[in-house]
Order: sequence, then C-alpha cells, then structure tokens
Amino acid sequence: MATQPIPRFPDGFLWGVSTSAHQIEGAARLREPSVWDVFTAEPGRVKDGSTAAVACDHYHRYREDVALLADLGVDAYRFSVSWPRVNSPGGLDFYDRLVDELCAAGVRPVPTLFHWDLPAGLDWLERDTASRFARYVTRVADRLGDRVVRWITLNEPAEHTLLGHALGTHAPGRTLLFDALPAAHHQLLAHGLAVRALRAAGAAEIGIANSHGPTWPASDDPADREAADFYDLLLNRLFSDPLLTGRYPEGIAELMPGDARRVDADLEIIAEPLDWYGVNYYAPARVGAPQGAKTVFGGLTLPAELPFSVRAIEGRPVTDFGWPVVPEGLTELLTGLRDRYGDRLPPVVITENGCSYEGLDDRDRIAYLDGHVRALHGAVAAGVDVRGYFVWSLLDNFEWAEGYARRFGLVHVDFATLERTPKASYAWFREVLRAQRAPVG
Ligand code: FCB
Repeated sequence: MATQPIPRFPDGFLWGVSTSAHQIEGAARLREPSVWDVFTAEPGRVKDGSTAAVACDHYHRYREDVALLADLGVDAYRFSVSWPRVNSPGGLDFYDRLVDELCAAGVRPVPTLFHWDLPAGLDWLERDTASRFARYVTRVADRLGDRVVRWITLNEPAEHTLLGHALGTHAPGRTLLFDALPAAHHQLLAHGLAVRALRAAGAAEIGIANSHGPTWPASDDPADREAADFYDLLLNRLFSDPLLTGRYPEGIAELMPGDARRVDADLEIIAEPLDWYGVNYYAPARVGAPQGAKTVFGGLTLPAELPFSVRAIEGRPVTDFGWPVVPEGLTELLTGLRDRYGDRLPPVVITENGCSYEGLDDRDRIAYLDGHVRALHGAVAAGVDVRGYFVWSLLDNFEWAEGYARRFGLVHVDFATLERTPKASYAWFREVLRAQRAPVG
C-alpha cells in the first residue's frame, strides 16, 4: 500500500527498528532466569498462559533476522542485552556475534542495557541493585564498546515501576502503589551510575528510552485538571525532571522514602549529561478525577484508591490492544518536552513507536506509522531537534502479560514453525527509507 510521499527528514536522520531480549530471544535454558521467567511460571499471570522460553528463537536465528534488517534498509537496530544471559557462561559471546553480524550488514547496533528482564533474585527495591547494574554495564561495554557507539541505559522505568511494582500486572508482580517509588528511584540511580560506567569505558553516545505521552484532562473541571496533572507527574515528569534538571518534580520529592540528603546526592548522579534522549510514544491519555476501579485501555484495571481515573479517548480508531491512534499526540509531546526543558533537552530519538494489529496485509499499521512519521516531521518543522525514529517492532513477539496475542511486528512470526514473513508494512517502510535517501531534486 503506497502512501503520499513523506516529507524529507534532516540529513543523517537515523531510521531503525526495535526489539528486546526477553521478547524475542528464547533459548531460556541457556541463561539464568529473570524475574519474567518467575512471573510467567505463576498461573494466570500471562493471558494466553504462554512463556518466552522459545519466543522467536532469535538466539538461534539472529542471522536470518539481521538479513531481514539489511533487506529492510534500516540504519540502526535497537535490541536489548539480557543481564541474566550475560551472567551465564557464553552469554556475552551471543551479543558479540550479533554485533558482528550487524556491523557486517551495515546496520548500526543500538543496545539497551535493561529492558525489564532483571536477574531473578535481584530487586529494584534494593538500592544495591543500582551498583550491580553499573558493574554489569561495564562488562558489556568492555566487550562491545569497540563496535557500539550508541547506548541506551534503561527502557521505560515508568512502566516497569507502574506495571511491575505498583499494579502488579508485569513482573515482579508487586502491588505496592505509591510504595513502589523506591523502585523508580533505584532505576534512575542505576541509569546515572551506568552513564558514568559507560563514559569510563569510552562510550560516546549515551541515551535512555523513556515512555512519554501527552496527558489530556477529561474536562476543565478543577478536579479533573488536578487529577490529570498528578497522572502526568507520575508517568512523565517523575522520570524526565530528575534526568534533565537534577530535581524531582514538586509533589514527588515528599513521597520519596528515606534520607532527603541521600536522595539529593543521588540526583547529581541521575542528572549526568546525556548525548540524546529516547522517547517511546504510543498514545496520549485522557485523565480525570477518580471514578472507582475501572478497566482502561489494554485491559488494565486501575485500583479505586488512585487519585485519578483514565478515560476513553472518543472518536479515534483503536489498535487491537485498544490503544487510541493519535498521531498528533507525538508532535504535542515533543514540542511540550522542548518547551518544558529548553536547552536541557538533548537531541531526541524516537526509540519506540508502533501498534498491534493482526494480519499480513496490515494497512492499519501502515496508516498508524505513516501518520506518526508525519507528526514527527511536524515536530522537526516546529524546531524540535529530532535525530531518529525506531519502529516497535521488527518481529511479532512475546508481548509481556499479553503473551503472543498482540502482534506489533513488521514481520509476522508463526510461533508454531518460527517462520518469518514480512508484512505489507515492512514493504511500506522499506519504500519510505528508499525515498528518504533518494537524491534531492
Ligand atoms: C513498550 C515496551 C515494549 C513493548 C511495547 C509494545 O512499553 O517497551 O517492550 O512491549 O511497549
């Protein structure tokens, strides 16, 4: 399906696709378990009862997957390094082979060092996990740093805190609500220590992948506005403020447990300068005053005691996951980040954007991506320094608590045979990339 030509992005703009280790690698027996293996073994945690033991078997089929990347024509591939695998004999060798294969194919490797698969037995509520993370990062950087230029410390500490520690729908399955905040603080501290470790190992281009989305108040009613502001604080500013300004937003510092002086000293580490800032964007949220327990998009039920409720965004198409399709939310989000942080905002890279739809002739996905790439161009035209765009995801994969029921890939995976079949959206994206590189005029 062809679409109207997409406006030209600046020279050197980085086009890529993203995946994560736990969602695609499989070969679970060749590594230590992670908190996700423990979680999925508990009945009822994953909707279709599946596990990621085999997933896409990327561990054994990475050559085929790198060939798909090369054929697609992306500049870069964002994948994640599994900490439990690195802890296991021969684990780092796998990433060594993968990085070699990518370099040989002319695709730049962009590893994420933590994408939710914490080694089983470790815990983000423990401060010490942050220093352990930094030591693991040093090992990875020492091994891959001769070929990897661009690094991502963490993926979405906001979702990992909210879903994994506050609501319990993701591993490790805790339902601590606001008592989950130390898990956020320790991930941020781990990020800062990792930035220092990467610099010490000679890394040049360091970023993070944070989830962000505009928060729209359900109405002008002050109760709705206040609730929306608090939601925005928790999901957006709780993470970007300390990273980019060295301070927690007002209303959060007070909720952080422990010694305030220690938190202040940590904030200096957390705010280590970044070379670029990764944004994962899927959809905005419409938020109002509490309405009791309600199921929101993605089948998530928010407990009644939260001081906000998430409402439906009417009049928009929704993906198979039930997420509303709002491309202009991306422009709004990026101009908003620029306005809030000004010069403190490093160049931005969209590290994830995508949607779940069934089928090989995935016109809905093409429409989604087309709309979002145009909205991204709108942000560039509005003066936001955006340097790259990564589609989530290369392959259909293990979508966490949804199991294999949500298909986000440009490439279809038959989970019985593990056969890969490029979808219509893969061909569309390849054409977009070709057109972006065609000589001007
Ligand atoms: C993001 C995660 C990614 C994937 C997409 C759909 O929140 O980072 O692993 O699950 O959502």
